[in-house]
Amino acid sequence: MTTETTDARTPPVAVWQVLERMSREELLAWRTAEVKGRPSAAERNLDMPYPFGWYPALLSAELAIGEVRPLRYFGTDLVIWRGEDGQVRMLDAYCRHLGAHMGHGGKVNGNNIECPFHAWQYNGEGVVEHIPYSRTIPPQVKRPCPTQWPVTEANRWIWFWYHPEGIAPLWEVEHVPEATDPAWTDYDVFEWNVWGNLQNMAENGVDAAHFKYIHGAANVPEYEFSWDHFWRSARLFVRLGTPQGEVNGEIAYKNIGPGQSYTRFTGISETLLIACITPVDKDHCVARFCFTQPKAQAAGPRAGAARAIIKDICKQFDQDKVVWDRQRYLEKPLVCAGDGPIAQFRQWYAKFYVTPGAGPAAMAAE
Ligand code: FES
Ligand SMILES: [Fe+2]
Repeated sequence: MTTETTDARTPPVAVWQVLERMSREELLAWRTAEVKGRPSAAERNLDMPYPFGWYPALLSAELAIGEVRPLRYFGTDLVIWRGEDGQVRMLDAYCRHLGAHMGHGGKVNGNNIECPFHAWQYNGEGVVEHIPYSRTIPPQVKRPCPTQWPVTEANRWIWFWYHPEGIAPLWEVEHVPEATDPAWTDYDVFEWNVWGNLQNMAENGVDAAHFKYIHGAANVPEYEFSWDHFWRSARLFVRLGTPQGEVNGEIAYKNIGPGQSYTRFTGISETLLIACITPVDKDHCVARFCFTQPKAQAAGPRAGAARAIIKDICKQFDQDKVVWDRQRYLEKPLVCAGDGPIAQFRQWYAKFYVTPGAGPAAMAAE
């Protein structure tokens, strides 16, 4: 609800000045363009392990039956395909015969992937089931691939399980009802490349002070956090400074492991955001924000406000991206009262690393 009519935003900071100078086209190009000449991941202290969990691979609609696509996540080239049975399967991309990348020219044969080079056929576990020109299959290729990539579908997304030591999934992907409710809109999807690290990005949600200084919230928000073994959740009560004055808003989010993030915005307009962020390399994550809103709201008299909230959330991501693209990971940050529960966040997040004594665990122990 609007309580004032004067511009209530905090004074423009440098980040806003950079972003506001861009045209719409320039902004869209900037969101995905590579930040060239950046320091190495090691120099930014990002050369740390990847956390295990379920991660988004592709929208379900991006992979039709019989379709093959190359992917790269977790510093690994991958091939993903949908078999004739409708199931999605994923393997390391490089054929164990002579090393062809099966994401480029590979095709679906039944439920298997067929390599473009000599037509060896792999099942979803990476077992070679057929070599068309050979009467025998060597015993070593009858074994599954050493790295397995469990895959599932939920919320109109394809999810895959990453674990550096090949441990089977420790929890299920949560289904959020709005994602498949016909009374809610199709996803509105926005995409970024972030030249930074997933943990730094995730820390944003507990970084209470930054909402005011980089996003222009009218206050440092009040918040309630809950922590559990594999999930964490929060409610933040924000007074948003808009050009038309201050508006009360509530943000409630739930994260399950490091790769599943569901955020509900209420106050101005009801909105669900599934933030799909997956590491590509140590200093590169791909982020796709999927928004859905009740159709009645998105097409009704409050449609303008409903659009504006999506635009504003994307703008906030743009503002954070300016920082994330160049941020170092600090194992021992200098935090102060008012910063939010950063140490508690890191303690929770450290569960998802398997390397003993890795950066975040070191701080959590203090
Ligand atoms: S390289 Fe794949 S079948 Fe030969
Ligand atoms: Fe932020």
